[in-house]
Amino acid sequence: MKQDMIVILDLGSHENTVLARAIRALGVYSEIYPHDITVEELKALPNVKGIIINGGPNHVIDGVEIDVNPGIYNIGIPVMAAGHDKALCEVKLPEFTNDVEAIKAAVKSFVFDTCKAEANWNMTNFVNDQIELVRRQVGNKKVLLALSGGVDSSVVAALLLKAIGDKLVCVHVNHGLMRKGESEDVVEVFKNQLKANLVYVDVTDRFLNKLANVEDPEQKRKIIGGEFIRIFEEEARKLDGIDFLAQSTIYPNIVESGTKTAKMVKSHHNVGGLPEDLKFELVGPLRQLFKDEVRACDLELGLPYDMVYRQPFPGPGLGVRCLGAITRDRLEAVRESDAILREEFKNAGLDKKVWQYFTVVPDFKSVGVRDNARSFDWPVIIRAVNTVDAMTATIEPVDWPILMKITDRILKEVKNVNRVCYDMSPKPNATIEWE
Ligand code: XMP
Repeated sequence: MKQDMIVILDLGSHENTVLARAIRALGVYSEIYPHDITVEELKALPNVKGIIINGGPNHVIDGVEIDVNPGIYNIGIPVMAAGHDKALCEVKLPEFTNDVEAIKAAVKSFVFDTCKAEANWNMTNFVNDQIELVRRQVGNKKVLLALSGGVDSSVVAALLLKAIGDKLVCVHVNHGLMRKGESEDVVEVFKNQLKANLVYVDVTDRFLNKLANVEDPEQKRKIIGGEFIRIFEEEARKLDGIDFLAQSTIYPNIVESGTKTAKMVKSHHNVGGLPEDLKFELVGPLRQLFKDEVRACDLELGLPYDMVYRQPFPGPGLGVRCLGAITRDRLEAVRESDAILREEFKNAGLDKKVWQYFTVVPDFKSVGVRDNARSFDWPVIIRAVNTVDAMTATIEPVDWPILMKITDRILKEVKNVNRVCYDMSPKPNATIEWE
């Protein structure tokens, strides 16, 4: 293994992700683990040079005081703690801050002088380490991957292809909530160009029937996630001799779905929750990466240019952009307006500049005029945001002439639409998606 690591034990602090990022910014790999990790589990982690215990004001979750396993102080690895009295090394971290520079300054001496960690965290080493870990974990066995075609699952597919080649079996489920042309692209890149084992299933009707009349966003996510698992399960049962399941979960998904100490923001859809008798071991090479790091990983793997710069796409797809109960006419309006937005952003060179951009169609109509007659149709909302890690985001100030051209095209080309709006809201208070 090439990389030294500093482990953060999470006693319920919101700062831990910033802390991990700060340590990685110093060039040293860092991962966050729950406070109750056992001494054995900790010892099994590779190249741990130091441990930082960091918690909220009183180390209290739901009224219960929590602490780390005391044996951790005796395994011969330097321990640093913020607001904790048993550790060898006590450093005060700047409180309630997102200031990576301030945190870097506070932990630098611990990381390099006390722990003697080497600044050897980079994507080449990360990818090589993950390839080695996957080969060690999987051996000669087969791995199954749900390949949506989004950045995360594409990176996992490319990484596993490098590590185990045709021992990887990809399943692409077209749930009818994909962007225009997207399923076709997945087949073209992975099956035709990269020669991956790819199973393609089109189950549009089945999904739309399940989703009919369902309005609540979390309920929609649950149905999409649950149905996805059932279809994936059906496909998995048709395949023989598969022992592993690859997951493309990344760090912000884990945080926002709620860890032991972080409150849930939105549930994120991934392929967890398969039935007990389908016994897979999990392979999750990206689970500790932030979104910007996944992009860098993508480049390192030498994926096609278009794929590296493909914007992130949520697991529930256009389903959370067709607000409220999904109907075929509005879903079509989302898909067509999104395709126009993407085309015009590409023409204007914004596709490489803006982190994520898409359209949303709400479930209310407004009055307009078309061909001298009253119309009563859907609005389209354009969203374009920039972010480093999707935890916060700012809006892109798109030039008026570009927005006017996109508006003009949407109004002319997309059926059942009579109004176009631009969403000005940063995250927080809004989230990036509308649902
Ligand atoms: P929010 O809306 O939470 O989005 O600010 C942050 C990032 O996550 C994506 N997103 C999802 N990705 N499953 C996913 O795989 C989901 O359920 C989901 N919801 C949001 C969103 O597109 C943005 O990039």
